[in-house]
Amino acid sequence: MKIVVLHGQMHKGSTYNITKLFLDKLSDKDPEITEFFMPKHAPGFCIGCFNCFTKGEDKCPHADVVQPIVKIMEEADLIILESPCYVFGISGQLKTFLDHMGYRWMPHRPHEKMFSKIGLVISTAAGAGAKKVTKELKRNLFYWGVPKAYSYAKHVGALNWETVKPEKKKQIENEVAKLAEKISREVCNVKPGIKTKAMFKIMKMNQSSNDWNMTDKEYWIKKGWLNGKNPW
Ligand SMILES: Cc1cc2nc3c(=O)[nH]c(=O)nc-3n(C[C@H](O)[C@H](O)[C@H](O)COP(=O)(O)O)c2cc1C
Repeated sequence: MKIVVLHGQMHKGSTYNITKLFLDKLSDKDPEITEFFMPKHAPGFCIGCFNCFTKGEDKCPHADVVQPIVKIMEEADLIILESPCYVFGISGQLKTFLDHMGYRWMPHRPHEKMFSKIGLVISTAAGAGAKKVTKELKRNLFYWGVPKAYSYAKHVGALNWETVKPEKKKQIENEVAKLAEKISREVCNVKPGIKTKAMFKIMKMNQSSNDWNMTDKEYWIKKGWLNGKNPW
């Protein structure tokens, strides 16, 4: 099993440590794990040139940083996105990477391999907002075509992992173990559900009448998706 992790921060706080607990629990699957830490591995900010949408992803000024990560994500069975809650949202450094994935959203050029993956999104907050982060991360996975994603959002009542109370850590360990077991059972055996299929169908109708972005439209034609083929 291949796992890719996009860490929304560099430091090893509560979010990192919870992610690590998940990775440890998934170790019975003998995973090959690739980790990226933002901003160390993040591209520069999106400059809004639209090159990825209209000319191709290789024309993005940050393609040399973005594309190697994208290739590894395409090969992964499980994609983990995690971020601490910063002012009720994801960290800016992770958002910078996610912006560069805009061309891979279903309205544009989703990759067929995304439709068989499983996702896991993780966030911690001191007191409120972790669910807002996981919701946002999950939305990205959905629009990339990832049909199944699990969330783990925790209010840790602390500013770092060291000061999270022992009883809270125990509770986290138990919850992580349960969820990891579920993921272990399902990974490599995922099929798109009704929501993903419906969204794909709507996007297919959009592409049929698309007369402004030929890069997107030609991609759909080449894949055979406007001729009855599906990416799953
Ligand atoms: C810039 C910044 C903004 C934050 N915003 C929130 C917030 O909106 N709600 C909250 O409960 N905690 C907030 N926190 C606290 C962290 O989300 C919380 O301590 C989290 O568990 C830290 O995770 P980490 O140890 O992985 O960095 C914020 C922390 C920082 C540094």
